[in-house]
Amino acid sequence: MLVNLSDVLGHAYRYGYAVGAFNVINLEFLNGILEAAERQRSPVVVQIAEVHFKYMDIEEITPTIKHMADRASVPVVISLDHGESVGTIVRAIRCGFTAVMFDGSKLPFEENVEQTKLVVQIAHSVGVSVEAELGRVGGSEGTEGGVAREEFFTDPDQAGEFVRMTGLDALAVAIGNVHGFYKGEPKLDFERLRAIRDSAGVPLVLHGGSGIPDDDFRKAIQLGIAKINYFTEMSRKAVQRVREVLGRDSRIVGLQDLMLEAKEAIRKEVEDRIQVFGSAGICDRRSDLCAVCRGCEIGRSSETPPLEEDQLVERVTEAVMRILWEKGGAYGTGSE
Ligand code: 13P
Repeated sequence: MLVNLSDVLGHAYRYGYAVGAFNVINLEFLNGILEAAERQRSPVVVQIAEVHFKYMDIEEITPTIKHMADRASVPVVISLDHGESVGTIVRAIRCGFTAVMFDGSKLPFEENVEQTKLVVQIAHSVGVSVEAELGRVGGSEGTEGGVAREEFFTDPDQAGEFVRMTGLDALAVAIGNVHGFYKGEPKLDFERLRAIRDSAGVPLVLHGGSGIPDDDFRKAIQLGIAKINYFTEMSRKAVQRVREVLGRDSRIVGLQDLMLEAKEAIRKEVEDRIQVFGSAGICDRRSDLCAVCRGCEIGRSSETPPLEEDQLVERVTEAVMRILWEKGGAYGTGSE
């Protein structure tokens, strides 16, 4: 069921787990991620980063994501990742995203506050949640070798001020995390994270999930991380699987076989992450999340829900087409 980010993160923050936020660049990613969330009975965030707009048109893909989210038996948030301007934020909201991230991390503090506040006012007026970033998470999704620079780490005192001045719902932090693969071992500053949590008082978001050791994820979750962004490693796993398959069978010529393999690799990686993030089985254990998501009731209900108008049109059209086809078949036998 399509839900709001604040509802899901509030729950995660309260119960000490994190929701995985996985970037989508095509339907293989989308199918793999949603299948994984359903199998693990976990809430999930499906997100599209503005830097990935070149791979798909959000006006075209979002109706499909919404349709699938609505039918999912677990809570699904659709979020814009690293929106760089108010124009993109408005575009995502018009498409039906239930969350937006505004990334003003390259702006001076006052300007970041001002623009984030504006985004919050717009988004909250239509019930959409807002994530924003303070400090700067370096690197780039899907690339090699980012290095975290301490001068860009989030300042704990500023974090509290930023939250109060903007009214945001979730804060993305820079504590040694980078997008893309890490050069060397990632080294997260947990003391800083603790201080940010105490000063900010809202669910925190860890970007640059790929390459962070499982124990560091667990520690970060105990210190207030409620959403973990993850892309590069999931994408690498898909490529790795495709390479293996091609290596095993050089006769493969069809892209369709590789697409399914890629989707399977993504599903497996997302299931694995969901377990590490502690959200596996949440939908079976925490009934208060059901107040915002009636997904599994719909999935399991024995009653047939009333048809929406477009479903009605679709069914009637199908029936008419079937009748015409059968008639055509009858004509084809020479009976007329
Ligand atoms: P990775 O690609 O490093 O996992 O980071 C993803 C991310 O933070 C998207 O915002």
